[in-house]
Amino acid sequence: MGETRKIFVESIRDRDRVATVFLVKHKAVPLSRNGKPYLALVLQDRTGAIEARVFDDVEDRARLFDAMDYLWVEGAAHEYQGRLQLKLDRLEKIPADRVDISNFVATAGRNPDDMIAELRVRFEQVVNPHLKAFLLGFLADRDFLARYRVAPAAKTIHHAMMGGLLVHTLSLARLADNVVDCYPHLLNRDLMIAGVFLHDIGKVHELSVNGQFGYTDIGKLVGHITIGVEMISARARQVDGFPEDLEMILKHLVLSHHGRLEFGSPKRPKTMEALALSALDELDSRLDNWYSIMLDDPSDKWTAFQPMYERYLMKLPGYLRPEGFDHKPKPAAPAADGGASGKPRQEMSREDLKFRPFQGLAGSQGKD
Ligand SMILES: [Fe+2]
Ligand SMILES: [Fe+2]
Repeated sequence: MGETRKIFVESIRDRDRVATVFLVKHKAVPLSRNGKPYLALVLQDRTGAIEARVFDDVEDRARLFDAMDYLWVEGAAHEYQGRLQLKLDRLEKIPADRVDISNFVATAGRNPDDMIAELRVRFEQVVNPHLKAFLLGFLADRDFLARYRVAPAAKTIHHAMMGGLLVHTLSLARLADNVVDCYPHLLNRDLMIAGVFLHDIGKVHELSVNGQFGYTDIGKLVGHITIGVEMISARARQVDGFPEDLEMILKHLVLSHHGRLEFGSPKRPKTMEALALSALDELDSRLDNWYSIMLDDPSDKWTAFQPMYERYLMKLPGYLRPEGFDHKPKPAAPAADGGASGKPRQEMSREDLKFRPFQGLAGSQGKD
């Protein structure tokens, strides 16, 4: 038994026999109409979620695992009230370290090593010697790299996939280069590249990657902005003669990148680079989030009403859509309990919604 036989939710059909590993999204022991308890589960992987039922040895089996555990299950699929459901006759808890996590969360389309190599090229181009040593120091830190390779950029809102932070960072690096080309007399390229890399760096500690993305204790209590500032302090101490004012200016880029005090930034942008970084960050995260919403929405033209943005979003007619519009890896936003068959839906938490209404391109909420 193991992951070699992984069967994905999206491939399960009526009357299939299923033997594979799932993540337990939801677990309950309700009573049936005749008063007997049964196990009601929602099982998921990166392709979706499916309801499952266990009717034998319910109490003993319910004690063996909890929600967010991985479970080896064997059973049969059948349609019940118009939805696919699994009736399980075997289940066993599987330790997380025996599971291939990429089966349970979406991953970036690109190899993390390639993305880190692209980042390294940009760091090598940094002119200021202190800043260059400072940035390359991160890429020489094995503990940091292990976290950075898999970190998502956010829990659900944008680039919510393993490697999503790298994808977001590289996308911003390309944007930053173009903006510096437009305003070479206004923007310092070294600082823009450093800001792009550092602004969300605290996410390597803020978010955990375990079956789904969640906030760590330090993420909840301290948050990625403050964690990022601490990481800058620690790294700057390792570069001989690192200028104090440079350290302060780097910290300002991180502290101000949400743009406004009420969106989680303790400081508003006060340098040209901080202003540009905040605007580019907002643009990149928002485009990615709108794209996910459009891909997840089944309609051909208007999406469902999006409370976070207080509007409907329009998908262009096919002939106007950019090439590749429909070919993005799906983010792994797991279904909540109930409504479990079919595609996972976007799940918004209070943490996701705490950041800035989208002022730059007009009012909406949700940032990271
Ligand atoms: Fe952020
Ligand atoms: Fe960001």
